[in-house]
Amino acid sequence: MKPELIVALDFDSKEKALKLVEELGSSVKHYKVGLELFSRAGTEAVKELSKLGKKVFLDLKYHDIPNTVKSAAKVAIEAGVFMYNLHALGGFELMKQVAEFNAEYAEKIGVAKPLVIAITVLTSMKEEDLKEVGIERSVNEEVLKLAELAKRAGLNGVVCSAKEVRLIKENLGEDFLTVTPGIRPTWAAANDQKRVVTPKMAKALGTDFIVIGRPITKAENPKKTAERILKETKS
Ligand code: C5P
Repeated sequence: MKPELIVALDFDSKEKALKLVEELGSSVKHYKVGLELFSRAGTEAVKELSKLGKKVFLDLKYHDIPNTVKSAAKVAIEAGVFMYNLHALGGFELMKQVAEFNAEYAEKIGVAKPLVIAITVLTSMKEEDLKEVGIERSVNEEVLKLAELAKRAGLNGVVCSAKEVRLIKENLGEDFLTVTPGIRPTWAAANDQKRVVTPKMAKALGTDFIVIGRPITKAENPKKTAERILKETKS
């Protein structure tokens, strides 16, 4: 049932990450491996999670020429991730080629085709930051423009703030997936996330996946915390 909880494994070692996964047990099935853990542990971390029956979202935000991104995507597909992402600002041609390659290569090696999603505008960027890099549109206009491009290129969805979910779904359809970080229960600290939404609100907005890190990974009792969050999204 929507939204699915993905726990962000932002750790500096595979051992720490796997310890948390063990602690959370069967309550959490989906995990995010990002730049930090992947830089430390590479595909080993992904493979070990898969062995435990977990589903991995590989959050490496590819942004390079099509040939290079396809070669990197190969590694993600071979490792058996269920989802990975790339920057929409890499362009239509990049997204289209990766979407096509993703389907062909997964079929060729006989694994389930991963979902491929786009980063539109990083949630750390505001209108002034966009202006600085020469983008004059508002954040919402830019997010929607890039999400449309991603959809046309054959991608499955976008990473976005929960506050952008309605804008995206209303314009691009309920089936176009949204993956939303920046989720905080009212009873947890916001950390450095600025525009936070509660798990309950994220569900009401109709997002498909919520990504939560520190409120669970740094909790005194991660399992209880994850279960409390899951309860909020299921009721
Ligand atoms: O600890 P926290 O719940 O803030 O973790 C959120 C995770 O989502 C982190 O791994 C962060 O890198 C990631 N993320 C984000 N905002 C984005 C994209 C990814 O917070 N726009």
